[in-house]
Amino acid sequence: MEQALFDQKLEQEIRIEPRDWMPEKYRQTLIRQVSQHAHSEIVGMLPEGNWISRAPSLKRKQILIAKVQDEAGHGLYLYSAAETLGISRDEMIDQLHSGKAKYSSIFNYPATTWADMGAIGWLVDGAAIMNQVPLTRASYGPYSRAMIRICKEESFHQRQGFEILLMLCQGSPEQKAMAQDAFNRWWWPSLMMFGPHDSDSPHTEQSMQWKIKRFSNDELRQRFVDMIAEQANVLGLTVPDPDLKWNEERKHYDFGEINWDEFWNVVKGNGPCNKERLDARRKAHEEGAWVREAAVAYANKRAMRQKQEAA
Ligand SMILES: [Fe+2]
Ligand SMILES: [Fe+2]
Repeated sequence: MEQALFDQKLEQEIRIEPRDWMPEKYRQTLIRQVSQHAHSEIVGMLPEGNWISRAPSLKRKQILIAKVQDEAGHGLYLYSAAETLGISRDEMIDQLHSGKAKYSSIFNYPATTWADMGAIGWLVDGAAIMNQVPLTRASYGPYSRAMIRICKEESFHQRQGFEILLMLCQGSPEQKAMAQDAFNRWWWPSLMMFGPHDSDSPHTEQSMQWKIKRFSNDELRQRFVDMIAEQANVLGLTVPDPDLKWNEERKHYDFGEINWDEFWNVVKGNGPCNKERLDARRKAHEEGAWVREAAVAYANKRAMRQKQEAA
């Protein structure tokens, strides 16, 4: 009976809300996906946060601060959305800090030059948009609604990244070379953001049935390649893939094979910055303990005062 009602809602594109009955596996899948998404937003602040003090001008610094703050906001919406599924914020944070929960492996790569701020916005936020726009129609209400605002902000992020690279590409030969170098380093990891091939992605089919996922990993990756290949032309940059070629029959770009050994290696925690990122998160959490304690003490004090006034 409950299952039938749930299936009917999915069928009719009616959102599933926190108080509705849902299959336990649906709930667990969403907890995993939404919390990983939240962790990715928060850990994603680190490579760019590192460049705020070194931004080349006041204007660039303002833009980058705004962008990094947006990511914090995305993390907070998503943690809140996950909490509606019956997991606490503390549990999620513990899972991140213990290494049990994953976050997007892209953030385990270092941001070594200013051009990386451009490449991250253009490619990483660009890939995020490809993944996230279909999630605005995900079947779970709180998740889909959080995605609407997030996507609006992500499209600003992508544009700011593209614009950084455009400026560098119109600058000196050294600046253009710096842009190309950042592109070379971020291209393949950004393709990995879409996850394994459909044939190696065991959860895809179930997630598509549940209408959490609307397009497969390979479909989304292809769309991303098609978009970036065109935008690279505008920048005058070369996609670092000798196999990239327009396929007239498919009406898509063909592209080379991803290094899956590298992908799995980073997922398993052996990427260039995995340890650094988790250490930074743990340290921030410990150093913020007094803020959380003060907030609880204040809330208790207020509740007590209200009780006294009511008496
Ligand atoms: Fe974000
Ligand atoms: Fe973003």
